[in-house]
Amino acid sequence: QSWLGLVNNGSSTSTTSDFLHAMPASLTLLQSCFLLWSGVSRLTSSAPTRSVDDCAGYKASNVTVLENGLTADLKLVGDGCGVYGKDLVDLKFLAEFQTDSRLHLIIYDKDEEVYQVPDFVVPRPGGSVNKQDSQLEVYIEEEPFSFTVTRKSDKQAIFTTKGSNIIFEDQYVRLRTSLPENPSLYGLGEHTDPLRLKTSNYTRTFWARDAPAVPLDSNLYGNHPVYYEHRAGSGDSHGVLLLNSNGMDIKINNDNGQYLEYNTLGGVLDFYFLAGPSPFDVAREYSEITGKAAMMPYWGFGFHQCRFGYKSVDEVAAVVANYSAANIPLETMWTDIDYMDNYKVFTLGANFPLAKVRDFISNLHRNNQHYIVMVDPAVAYQNYDAFNNGVNSDVFLKLNNGSIYKGEVWPGVTAFPDWFHNNTQSYWNNQFETFFNADSGVDIDALWIDMNEPSNFCEWPCNVTELQVLPRHEVGSKKGLPGRNLTDPKYHIKNELEFLSSRTARTDLAHQGGWAEYDTHNLYGTMMSRVSQQAMLKRRPGKRPMVITRSTFVGAGNYVGHWLGDNVSGWDQYIISVRHLLQFVSFFQVPMVGADVCGFLDNTTEELCARWTVLGAFYPFYRNHNVDNARSQEAYRWESVAAAARKAIDLRYRLLDYIYTAMYRQTKDGTPMLAPVWMHYPGDAATLAIETQFFYGPSLLISPVTQQSATSVTLYLPNDIFYDFFTFKKANVTGSSTTYSNISTSDVPVHIKGGSIIPARVNSANTTTALRKEDFELFVALDADAKAKGSLYLDDGESTVQTSISEIEFSLEGSKIKADGSFGFKTDVSVKKVTVIGNDGVTKYEMDKKLDGAWELDLGSLRRDGL
Ligand code: GLC
Repeated sequence: QSWLGLVNNGSSTSTTSDFLHAMPASLTLLQSCFLLWSGVSRLTSSAPTRSVDDCAGYKASNVTVLENGLTADLKLVGDGCGVYGKDLVDLKFLAEFQTDSRLHLIIYDKDEEVYQVPDFVVPRPGGSVNKQDSQLEVYIEEEPFSFTVTRKSDKQAIFTTKGSNIIFEDQYVRLRTSLPENPSLYGLGEHTDPLRLKTSNYTRTFWARDAPAVPLDSNLYGNHPVYYEHRAGSGDSHGVLLLNSNGMDIKINNDNGQYLEYNTLGGVLDFYFLAGPSPFDVAREYSEITGKAAMMPYWGFGFHQCRFGYKSVDEVAAVVANYSAANIPLETMWTDIDYMDNYKVFTLGANFPLAKVRDFISNLHRNNQHYIVMVDPAVAYQNYDAFNNGVNSDVFLKLNNGSIYKGEVWPGVTAFPDWFHNNTQSYWNNQFETFFNADSGVDIDALWIDMNEPSNFCEWPCNVTELQVLPRHEVGSKKGLPGRNLTDPKYHIKNELEFLSSRTARTDLAHQGGWAEYDTHNLYGTMMSRVSQQAMLKRRPGKRPMVITRSTFVGAGNYVGHWLGDNVSGWDQYIISVRHLLQFVSFFQVPMVGADVCGFLDNTTEELCARWTVLGAFYPFYRNHNVDNARSQEAYRWESVAAAARKAIDLRYRLLDYIYTAMYRQTKDGTPMLAPVWMHYPGDAATLAIETQFFYGPSLLISPVTQQSATSVTLYLPNDIFYDFFTFKKANVTGSSTTYSNISTSDVPVHIKGGSIIPARVNSANTTTALRKEDFELFVALDADAKAKGSLYLDDGESTVQTSISEIEFSLEGSKIKADGSFGFKTDVSVKKVTVIGNDGVTKYEMDKKLDGAWELDLGSLRRDGL
């Protein structure tokens, strides 16, 4: 068998079938076209030649038990399965306890040729602990090989491949774990499906695509192959990441016992098991792998207005003026691709003359408002600077005949930057330095990047006369096996589009360094994010870059935020936005996220837009945006929406420091700033599927109205102490559902959890700059022991390096209220009021305490408000 030869002696021998899959550069153009066509016309069968159940798996030998883990060699049993390609004969198994709660387990090819996610994209954490110190244990069975990860405390298997043989082929890798009946699984996005994942007949597909209308049951823009599982029996939660960027189906089914099964188009089985045991622990442990989320500027939490279809700078300026006239605070104005000359990146169109644009931006800045525009990755294939500079720096993806690979995006024919190329960062920096120059160009404050799946309007096969490219191949390089069919592998993932290369960059392209787009496709958006974040940092040294991207992968939050793509102005999508949002904030460590408020596609309605404007005030990223052919939907277009916006923004701004503090915490230790109810109450089975209510920060429970024409909502309060945040009334029904009525389109039920202190600004303001000068008040919600605590983080709001910060801990016990912690940040504002909410109703006190040092006060010594 040729494959055996290849693995054993490292030299490549070709067979006829190798030849059909691989296409040597020496082929003539005509031959290539023929082969390419035969590849894409699907003459090859997608049905496996043998059944997966015939696969005998691997046998382990040389099992070595180490202080901190286990290693073994794995050898294919028999002649393999050949189910969707060629089996790899020799594998290696490594399990290492990296911390007391993290187990890294990897099954990879002996020669390390198989593609692995490059370390510079997701820097893998290291670490080593003695196995005695781990919460987890790992066992293997030698023949057929299987492994099992158990939790030490109760001996439960959290993951086991027993009973199902591993398949490790060149273009198909399968691994299945058995699960308990009816498991509570979360994550595996990006998707718009139920937050608690379906457990039967369900496939999640991982392949980045431009996904208009963000449909259910579909692969979308981003890929995060991590799940969180909550176990009813033990009450513990754990997490499992498969760090693999290849196209993949993860199937969850119960047709043969309950299981979850990975089916990838390549890569290695690179797992991280996170022991929790609480759901928040899992999130924090996961943040060690993704890297901590990037902190965003304070002003980034303000209200943003955008739309596709503002045709001139005058129109954009008029929107800003209309907001001001309607008395609705507008923090940031955006412009979509309309500002460009025929949608060419780094150009200005005739209706956006530079002098006028610069005037407009100066005006915004004078009013402490901000400006953001979009930049797409694809560069118009035309004789102009951005393209010519790219050609000169050699940064565009190329075919192996040396010509630039061409696709088609907004400006027509386009080239795609190769983010893996050594020159791309400086090319991008230079484009930013020139075009976004503060003194002579478009002085943006933050950046919006899009179409980076990458999206391509050209249907596959796009321009079939071009030569197919094969990536460079080096043994031991972890850059990909040779001889694979990179456009039409036999296993077909459940991609919404027909081919892997459909409406994206063709998957047989090679990046500089030799990686194949086939393997790295899902990284394109994150690579662009990283490079763009650096370019923004270079342009605005010392200031936190805010970059909002469409496509994301594991670790993207370390650089950027995300908006949830092209949703629809419909009631279903309004409420689905909550579960879509929570995936990112709570499970994937991408906290700066929001959906297009009022909906992107189709016409919104007054009622929907009002409700959505209220809900959006609780998204970390709060932006109204829609498509060019839909009706205008700025908040001032209808009186009821304007009223909803004024009230919602007022509340959001007053709570801005509370949520800013929660975000800061997430960027430090990974504690999600927003969370589904079950993460706070995992022991309460009634919370496990709740996906329309969520915690905003650690203490506020938001329960939006979910349906059209409704003025009431049935909400669930866990068995704990909750107070209505507006009336301060203690909820007398907990541990069950209760209905709230008469909720106007400007309102939303908010509950404060007993035991918490919320720092809020006494007054809102027109901009976040003005808001920072407002005094504070404290809302103190007592727990059963009449105690409460809460925190407040203060910094200058925008510097990447903060030299003087305050991390203040407020607490109330008995009649003593205290502020403790560190007080490095200089501010003139004071705490002016305290509202104590308890069993006996509410008491308001006046006070006047600066935030420049610790203090302690007796409530008895304070003046009662109104007395
Ligand atoms: C994409 C984006 C959308 C944007 C449009 C035009 O569809 O997702 O937000 O308005 O492109 O740039």
